[in-house]
Amino acid sequence: MESALKLIVVANSKGGAGKSLLVIGIASALHRAGKRVRVVDLDEQGTVARWFKADTSNAYPTPPSSELMIDAAIFDDDDTQNAKLAYQHLLKIEDEDEYDFVIVDTKGEAALLTSVAMSAADVVLCPTDGSSAEFEPVIVTYKTYEAALARVDESADPRESFRVVFTRQTALQANTVRDSKAALSELFPCVPGPSQSSSYNDAHYAGTTLGHLVDRAEQTAKEGGTPAIRSSAKRAMEKHGKALKILAELLTQLELLQELENVPA
Ligand SMILES: Nc1ncnc2c1ncn2[C@@H]1O[C@H](COP(=O)(O)OP(=O)(O)O)[C@@H](O)[C@H]1O
Ligand SMILES: [Mg+2]
Repeated sequence: MESALKLIVVANSKGGAGKSLLVIGIASALHRAGKRVRVVDLDEQGTVARWFKADTSNAYPTPPSSELMIDAAIFDDDDTQNAKLAYQHLLKIEDEDEYDFVIVDTKGEAALLTSVAMSAADVVLCPTDGSSAEFEPVIVTYKTYEAALARVDESADPRESFRVVFTRQTALQANTVRDSKAALSELFPCVPGPSQSSSYNDAHYAGTTLGHLVDRAEQTAKEGGTPAIRSSAKRAMEKHGKALKILAELLTQLELLQELENVPA
């Protein structure tokens, strides 16, 4: 029987493309929609693996591991051996079937570990600002996926499961960026992604989800001791709520969440 669990791999062979931030956002939005989420960090830099290890003295709640569990899948110094063990780890998670989604973060360079994860993916998300400087890395990432998929299933079409996510967008976009984004849109389905980084940085820093940030801000907006505290909490609530909404919309567009489940904030 095929498992209902969905495996999402976030990959771009370029560092700083917004992978880890997107993983935190997707995990937050799926958790907010009541899904059981497992996050697997395949980057030894461990950005996402450190997410819930932050200083929690500010007492933000961390979801129980049955709801949202994060693990680092770096098992061995040897790349080949590690790729094998990481693949087995992903298969084991699929087999145990205790989560609805697995989200895999990967490192910003072509790596066997990334190929192996991609070959098991239901969907590969490639975050990019869409600029001409990032055009080639997206193509390289797609080709890596194409090759990885061909090794496990010759008949599978990578185009059906490869999606570009536009991140790090600025209000004023140069013509060259627009042209490059148009070229990417000709090649792959493209969806809008996170529009700012501060909510995600806050969530990472506080060791909590975007949903918990919204809840806390909402509470402070009501009960804060001074008008200044209440109004700044209201702004935070709106900002984090918007970040969560963008992610929920992204997941709906990708048909990973249904419209009805899209009630983030
Ligand atoms: N959607 C976004 N909007 C604005 N800045 C972003 C966004 N995503 C990422 N960034 C910026 O890029 C940096 C790198 O993001 P990160 O997710 O760590 O990239 P990667 O994991 O691909 O190396 C972040 O610290 C942040 O400053
Ligand atoms: Mg990263």
